[in-house]
Amino acid sequence: MAISRKGFSSRLGFVAAAAGSAVGLGNIWKFPYETAQNGGGAFLLLYLICVVLIGFPVMMGEISLGRATQTNPVGAYRKAAGPKWSWVGLIGVIGGMMILSFYNVVAGWAFGYFIEISFGSLLSEPDHGAFFGAYVANITDNLIFSMVFMVLTAVVVLRGIQGGIESASKLLMPLLFLILIGLIIYALTLPNAMAGISYYLLPDFSKIQLSTINSAMGQAFFSLSLGMGALITYGSYIPKDDNVTASASIVTLADTAVAFLAGLLMLPLVFSSGEPPEASGPGLVFTILPGIFHAMGPLVGRIVGGAFFLLLSVAALTSTISLLEVPVSYLVDDRKVGRKPAVIGIASIIFIIGLPSMLSFGAVDWLSDITYGGASHSFLDLINDVFSEVGLPLGGLIMSLLIVHRWGTNRMREELTNGNPAYPGSRVERFVRFTLTYISPVLLGFIFISNLMEKFFGISVF
Ligand code: PFF
Repeated sequence: MAISRKGFSSRLGFVAAAAGSAVGLGNIWKFPYETAQNGGGAFLLLYLICVVLIGFPVMMGEISLGRATQTNPVGAYRKAAGPKWSWVGLIGVIGGMMILSFYNVVAGWAFGYFIEISFGSLLSEPDHGAFFGAYVANITDNLIFSMVFMVLTAVVVLRGIQGGIESASKLLMPLLFLILIGLIIYALTLPNAMAGISYYLLPDFSKIQLSTINSAMGQAFFSLSLGMGALITYGSYIPKDDNVTASASIVTLADTAVAFLAGLLMLPLVFSSGEPPEASGPGLVFTILPGIFHAMGPLVGRIVGGAFFLLLSVAALTSTISLLEVPVSYLVDDRKVGRKPAVIGIASIIFIIGLPSMLSFGAVDWLSDITYGGASHSFLDLINDVFSEVGLPLGGLIMSLLIVHRWGTNRMREELTNGNPAYPGSRVERFVRFTLTYISPVLLGFIFISNLMEKFFGISVF
């Protein structure tokens, strides 16, 4: 058996951590309303196709690259594709830091709502829309909660792979499933729940346009944490005798299952309250749901609402951990910095980089009203558009090309044979090799170009 560096103790450890990275705000906040508004079951079907055609093959590529090279994304590209390609890894590292800078702000809101609903008087606010507007513009609350969230993330990453990331994920992921299932069971007993389920799932193919396909592809990619090297990094900690194909399949399934289940929770909640279905838009979580929890009565509302925002915080935490580990692993592996100074240094820098995003919801006017692509945006939107909407598909595209044309699918096969002797020549191999060579790069190129044109030039390619 080949020697691997100190990493996850078992397959379960990796699966919990990688699924934790994948399951995040994207699943619980974004997926349900995207599905409900874009054709329900028809969007779901499309999403599943994207997961299979782009998500799974790229995930296999990322993880195998990480495990083969046993190092962070910068070192991984250097070893696999040659020194002149290490910048691709560096862009991933920087992209991860930028994504974490704003993701942590939203995670801070979720955590703040958990505290304010469970222990404060948030639910009895007369106007939850106005409350949220004031909340995100309030510098003190924002500073406190996003700092708390960054510290929580840093504490886990500081404790290392096994003692920190693996242990936290093994605890938090089952907790997340438990809360989610508990909330769904409760939501399904509410009046009108079934109408919500029908709205969520009944397919409406007339809503599927090329732009919908683009959203489904982008969402699948973001949701699986692909494109910036998070899974290269986690892959580098997998034992050499582990079956990567099996692990990647479980992670993909778990992420998709949680996204699907989140819709089974959200739509019944919205419909039971008599809110119009359009309420299930981006504002749903922070502006509509608190009113729904309030209507459940003081005790039940506090419990159900508290559990919901705890769910959101837990989902976000296992993702922020993976986002922080990427730059930390770069400093530790490549720059020989100790884990402790690396974590403290990087977490502080990211927190500071996140300040303009935090202040871009009314606290500072010019950060809250930046015009590009023909519309006004917050600074947080800008960073999200650059680094996740455009950056991740570009990262995934370059990675697929490098894996296929520089590293080589034969070396990928060799790596995936460790722990799975049946891999060479198997159907999975033929599928992954074909999609990674011909399908994923083309689709990722589409997402990249269409998002770039739409977000920054206001031009709809589709
Ligand atoms: N997959 C996470 C979500 O759905 O919220 C977001 C994410 C985490 C993206 C980690 C990228 C990443 F590296």
